[in-house]
This record gives sequence, C-alpha cells and structure tokens, in this order.
Amino acid sequence: MTIRAARPDDHEWIVEVVDEWWGRPVSTSVPRLFLDHFHSTSLVVELDGEPVGFLIGFVSPSLPHVAYIHFVGVDPVHRAKAFGRQLYRRFFESARTHGCSEVWAITNAVNEGSIAFHRRMGFEVSEPIDSYDRPGVAHVRFSRGI
Ligand SMILES: CC(C)(COP(=O)(O)OP(=O)(O)OC[C@H]1O[C@@H](n2cnc3c(N)ncnc32)[C@H](O)[C@@H]1OP(=O)(O)O)[C@@H](O)C(=O)NCCC(=O)NCCS
Repeated sequence: MTIRAARPDDHEWIVEVVDEWWGRPVSTSVPRLFLDHFHSTSLVVELDGEPVGFLIGFVSPSLPHVAYIHFVGVDPVHRAKAFGRQLYRRFFESARTHGCSEVWAITNAVNEGSIAFHRRMGFEVSEPIDSYDRPGVAHVRFSRGI
C-alpha cells in the first residue's frame, strides 16, 4: 500500500466510484473543483498501482489553524485494513507542517460508519445539527487537535 498526493485527474475515477462506496448518491458533493484546487493537500491510497481510497482535504484559507477533511473513502473490498487510519495520519502530518492545530470535518447524521470511524480517529462528535447544509438534513461536526 502506498499513499501519494492526489492529482486533478483523480476526479475522473473518484466521481465514478463514490455513489457505490457510500451506498447512496453523493457524487454531486465531489465537484471537480476539489481536485483542481485542493489536490496538493489531498491523498490517494494505491494497492498494486490501483487507487483504492482517497482523502480530499485542505487548509482553510479563512481559518488558517484549521485543516478540513471534505471527503474520505475506501473501496469496500479493502475496508478494515487501516487504510482510512493511514490516510488520516498522513493528512494530520501534512496539516501540522502547514501550521494547523485542528482538523474539522462534517458528516451526514445518518452515516453511522463515518461517526464510528471518526470517534476511533480521536475526533469529538457534536450532536446532530438540523438543516446544517440544506433544509431538513442533519449533520454532525467532528473536530480534534493535532
Ligand atoms: C469510513 C471509512 C473511510 C473507513 O475506512 P477504513 O479503511 O475501513 O477504516 P480503518 O480500517 O482505517 O479503521 C480505523 C478505525 O475505525 C474503525 N471503523 C472504521 N469503519 C468503521 C465502521 N463502519 N464502524 C465502526 N468502526 C469503524 C475501525 O474499527 C478502526 O478502529 P481500530 O483502529 O480501533 O481497530 C470507510 O468505511 C468508507 O469509505 N466509508 C464510506 C464513505 C464514508 O462514509 N466516508 C466518511 C464520510 S466523508
């Protein structure tokens, strides 16, 4: 397993797999701009040269002490092999070198797997926040120091 920096063209395979990897339609939440403008702080896991996971993250331009993780996904076939943990470890290291002291993320309140994963990664988890991004849809907020 190797982890490399993402490239703009990673958008092409990521947008093809996310609905299946999440088990619900989420591809509209990963527009190309995230890879075009945040590839240098985003990561891809490869196994035998094939991508099997990714993390899209960036340093907040408005809150420079905060690094934000927008999306993380691992191929269902390769879950529970600590690929997600390794992606987070690498992102935390990179965020520290950029001067960040906190990492934030959010997830849909129905995403129990994501909530359990983030707890294991040391994040504090907020109560569900109603209508966080759009009316009628609750999200939870994650944060941890690094
Ligand atoms: C969340 C996700 C990225 C985790 O990837 P992964 O490579 O399987 O996770 P890891 O193997 O690194 O697990 C790290 C820890 O989290 C725990 N964990 C991961 N997924 C879990 C789940 N669904 N339920 C409970 N615990 C979970 C693991 O048990 C492990 O704990 P441990 O190290 O104490 O044993 C993956 O399940 C996924 O892609 N889910 C769909 C996409 C998604 O919801 N992304 C998050 C929102 S953007």
